[in-house]
Amino acid sequence: MSDALIATALRKTYGSAVALDGVDLRVGAGELVGLLGPNGAGKSTLTKIACGLVRPTAGRVEVLGQPCGSPQARARTGYLAELFRFPGWATADEVLVLHQRLARSGGGAAERARLLGLVELASASGRRVEAMSKGMQQRLGIAQALVGDPGIVLLDEPTSALDPAGRRTVRELLEALRARGVAVLLNSHLLSEIELVCDRVVIVDGGRTIAEGAPSDLVKAGGVEIETGSGHRRFAHAGREDIPELIARLVGEGERIYGARVVAGSLEDAYLDLVGSAGG
Ligand SMILES: Nc1ncnc2c1ncn2[C@@H]1O[C@H](COP(=O)(O)OP(=O)(O)OP(=O)(O)O)[C@@H](O)[C@H]1O
Ligand SMILES: [Mg+2]
Repeated sequence: MSDALIATALRKTYGSAVALDGVDLRVGAGELVGLLGPNGAGKSTLTKIACGLVRPTAGRVEVLGQPCGSPQARARTGYLAELFRFPGWATADEVLVLHQRLARSGGGAAERARLLGLVELASASGRRVEAMSKGMQQRLGIAQALVGDPGIVLLDEPTSALDPAGRRTVRELLEALRARGVAVLLNSHLLSEIELVCDRVVIVDGGRTIAEGAPSDLVKAGGVEIETGSGHRRFAHAGREDIPELIARLVGEGERIYGARVVAGSLEDAYLDLVGSAGG
């Protein structure tokens, strides 16, 4: 299958500020890719270039085989902006009607009902945006991004306002999109969620790609934790095979042992190792 998105040597400067400094990125058809990085890393800039809202300074992006920003690429791209606001007076259904018109979707009421159902807003179709919670508005935003059956969906922090149930709903929705061959580029700071759902992650920092791979390839083992009479002791560099030796040593030192476990590493640990804890 061909790639859904290919960014090559992508560069964007705003005056003297460099937002993207030569990023290469690929999203396969039906692939769910997480774009990670500290505040100001260039994630939203890349997403906006991909959907044609921002012009790159250099480099190129192809979306579903077409230059980004071209009518053909736009017609097949779904987008949820990081900071969006729908008119307060519009109902959920009216917001989708508007976006159906913008996307030239002929899906009608059936498409709107299906999308509102997907984000669990079926009973809120007549509710005005101003009477919705932040999380409901964000779910409406996700439904909006799916109007017109896009081949690729670019979601800029789509779950930042969602409660745990809402996040699970969106996770299941993303998995269903992947199963249908829709590519997703997802920009998020919620690393535990990214780790659960993404096939691959790309970490950018200072406008450059600093790491990429499947979450399981980036995550390192988290060491061994032993519960002793004087508290939990963490041995960051130890593995399962070191446990008998560690216990023997601790017992030799007069400790009483109540438990031992291998600690699974997390994407968050791997990310913080790569990026450092003080992102700019
Ligand atoms: N319109 C603009 N004019 C000037 N500078 C901009 C503009 N948009 C973004 N930048 C700068 O480009 C850099 C990248 O910003 P971007 O919004 O892409 O980061 P991000 O990775 O999405 O960050 P966050 O995690 O905070 O959303 C930042 O230094 C930002 O200040
Ligand atoms: Mg951003």
